[in-house]
Amino acid sequence: MTSPASAQSHPVPSRVAAVPPPVDFATKARLRSRAVHLRMHRQSVRDPEKFWAGQARELLQWRRPFTEVLDWRRPHARWFADGRLNVAENCLDRHLATSRANKAALIFEGEPGDVRTLTYRQLHREVCQFASALARAGLRRGDRVAIYLPMIPEAVVAMLACARLGVIHTVIFGGFSAEAIKDRINDCQARLVITADGGWRRGRVVELKANVDTALAATPSVRQVIVVRRTGQEGVKMQPGRDVWWTDFVLGASPEHRAAAFPSEQELFILYTSGSTGKPKGVLHTSAGYLLGSMLTARYIFDLQESDVYFCTADIGWITGHSYIVYGPLANGATVLLYEGVPNQPGPDRFWELIERHQVTIFYTAPTAIRSCMRWGDEHVRKHNLGSLRLLGSVGEPISPAVWRWYHEVVGARRCPIVDTWWQTETGAIMVSPMPGVTPLKPGSCALPFFGVVPVVLDDTGREVPRGTEGRLFLKQAWPSMLRTLWGDGRRFRQQYWSEHPEYYFAGDGARLDSDGYLWVSGRIDDVLNVSGHRIGTAEVESALVSHPQVAEAAAVGRPDELKGQALVCFVVLKGALPTPAVSEELRRHVAKEIGPIARPDEVRLVAALPKTRSGKIVRRLLKQVAGGEEIRGDFSTLEDISVITALQTNV
Ligand code: WTA
Repeated sequence: MTSPASAQSHPVPSRVAAVPPPVDFATKARLRSRAVHLRMHRQSVRDPEKFWAGQARELLQWRRPFTEVLDWRRPHARWFADGRLNVAENCLDRHLATSRANKAALIFEGEPGDVRTLTYRQLHREVCQFASALARAGLRRGDRVAIYLPMIPEAVVAMLACARLGVIHTVIFGGFSAEAIKDRINDCQARLVITADGGWRRGRVVELKANVDTALAATPSVRQVIVVRRTGQEGVKMQPGRDVWWTDFVLGASPEHRAAAFPSEQELFILYTSGSTGKPKGVLHTSAGYLLGSMLTARYIFDLQESDVYFCTADIGWITGHSYIVYGPLANGATVLLYEGVPNQPGPDRFWELIERHQVTIFYTAPTAIRSCMRWGDEHVRKHNLGSLRLLGSVGEPISPAVWRWYHEVVGARRCPIVDTWWQTETGAIMVSPMPGVTPLKPGSCALPFFGVVPVVLDDTGREVPRGTEGRLFLKQAWPSMLRTLWGDGRRFRQQYWSEHPEYYFAGDGARLDSDGYLWVSGRIDDVLNVSGHRIGTAEVESALVSHPQVAEAAAVGRPDELKGQALVCFVVLKGALPTPAVSEELRRHVAKEIGPIARPDEVRLVAALPKTRSGKIVRRLLKQVAGGEEIRGDFSTLEDISVITALQTNV
């Protein structure tokens, strides 16, 4: 663990003028005033159990009401444990008896421009039929299913059908390679995989089924593969007895399906995320608490109203897609725009064109996407009428004040509040964010804690730092949507999140609270990088590199990057091969093959040796300086061999 001082960060301005909320927004918003917000927050942290019990009764549809609120035996939380409900029923069935039945739940647009709308009634029918088919195929409560799909309606259908059956889904991002799929499937022992022939990305087909086939050569737990025909491409191999097309799989399955009532702590999904070791962590979320967290935050932070068209650009393979494309918005009965492709296909104005055409009112994206759009030029935004927009959101990494201002002025025409939302795969739902229309905004700060959340910033010895001082971010109280454990690895769960402080959850981020109590997150302080909003563990990249026969040793570090936030730079010592540009290129390809294109190093530097301490630990601090083109400074006394430093600066 490095100290917060070495956190990768954009410079945080010490004094920024707050941007007042747009006039009028609050008059129609769920939260009408700052005073109401602060009062609710005070109540929520003074008596969290009372607050959450009240919200859970009001917002969720229970089959059996709970009487217990929280059973907290640190680090194990059980929320509403004696209650029963069905998550899919809460996202779908409950709306059918209301005027929402024929409202659009999903508006899907494929990258090639094909559009498909599913009303709540239609989505419910699809989910029920797919759930019936899964049950017919022998899937039972607690079984694991891997979903490796493009951003198409079937991904939502598959997730909700699993939820309906108490089957645990693990969605694997479409940008991951066969190796990564294999590891995840083996870790959770998935019985069934749902994929597609391919998906559209940047005008080209991503070979999803072929990747699954490669992975499945070494995944003995998988018995069946369901394949959506998305691209209709030729040459997709179907293995008899194992592979079946989605349409054949659901043939004859009943579109009526009675949802069973599951205990609140029924496992809902596992989502793998990078950590500081080579092995991704299987973050486990359960039912009622997760649903409550994602639903309540979506309701207040996006101020979801009946007529909204809500567009979140995250992939369904990430937590943002889970909480804020699927569970949160659908439980609120919102209309969600689902877009399959990239922001610059066919042109750099695709997002703005989508917003104009579908009259999007709420837009939630990541700083890395905003930076790209900014670079492509204002004219692409300005040629569209974005008058429908009323709220903008940001997630995934710190947004620098300059990028914030561009988003506010060029995209939001200064009319739209920006909610900069800080949270993690582990937290399940947004933890820190402004309340739209009532919280004055400070560009670059994610503002104030959500209901029930108490952030604290501590120094290396576990003491609270004074306001304005950078330290390590912790969360004080248990919250309903918190991760319950790491799949199959309770020890690592304790070790990772609950060993830094005896009481609090350790977030792994560096941050400071300013004098107004606003939170400024500077970035990860562990060995996890944030490359274009994707969490990439340096240890994972290193183990991919050393799996190459020519690599003796490798170290991966981040370098500040204007577009990506951080770029991935790897230092590699070869076993004897000639250090040529071709070898560097080969190693970049190798990492992309082992993990996925998102982890392709921006640079592979072939060096004679890595700087190490006498106990053999690689000194990353120095490598970061070299990668960033900085002058090497600091204490060299612990180095095993000081001459390595000079050698590092000249590539071999
Ligand atoms: C970073 C994504 C600054 C942070 C929802 C966190 C942010 C990690 C913000 C979690 C934000 C996320 N400002 N940093 N608004 N949102 N982060 O698990 O470092 O993919 O720990 O969840 O992203 O990434 P994850």
